[in-house]
Amino acid sequence: MDIKDLEKKVAALEAVKYIKNNDIVGLGTGSTAFFAIEAVAELVKNGLKIKAVPTSEHTATLATSLGIELLDMKDVHTIDITIDGADEFDSSLNLIKGGGGAHFREKIIASLTKKEIIIADSGKQVEMLGKFKVPLEVVPMALNYVMQELRKLNGMGAVRLKNGIPFITDNGNYIVDGDFGLISHPALLSENLNQVDGILAHGLFVNLTAIVIMGKGKETVTYVRH
Ligand code: A5P
Repeated sequence: MDIKDLEKKVAALEAVKYIKNNDIVGLGTGSTAFFAIEAVAELVKNGLKIKAVPTSEHTATLATSLGIELLDMKDVHTIDITIDGADEFDSSLNLIKGGGGAHFREKIIASLTKKEIIIADSGKQVEMLGKFKVPLEVVPMALNYVMQELRKLNGMGAVRLKNGIPFITDNGNYIVDGDFGLISHPALLSENLNQVDGILAHGLFVNLTAIVIMGKGKETVTYVRH
């Protein structure tokens, strides 16, 4: 296992320690969340009783194949704990997410969650968010309008492609990767993007994270939001 995967795995193994019997657990999406889903499945095999809410179709398929019982997001009012990955996190535990295009469901689930735990390898820690472009889930018919609005926010967008054609999310939308340079005021940019009709969700997660667990070599470092 390479060092990055090791860091993801140790962070995941630390995060699952926060899960208690009878919890409703949000399951993230991506290569880091994968290790948490695997670890949750192992705990379930050993008798832990939980029900899980997946943040993507991919995670739903994986969790089901590993024997984890799922709930539909629309039937859930509150989630005890969610374990998810991120593309970047800063010292305020604000995040950029959506590298896998799943951030709309991830954000709804994070908003329903009492304790959002982000797990990450050490490469995800940044001083200032924004080197990783901000994923925006955009309703296709609103694409040109959204592009114009991004320019007003001093940003530039590019439609994410997969095999030469637009990448389509689980919800049937495009992803536009928004370049705003380094983001000195994530909360302000988040508010501004919230105002743009046609953006279903953006990948800035501000004040949603309770804990970040970062793998650093074989060890973990835990950051708690105050
Ligand atoms: C999915 O859309 C994302 O929000 C992921 O959580 C994020 O991109 C991190 O992915 P990795 O764990 O694969 O780096």
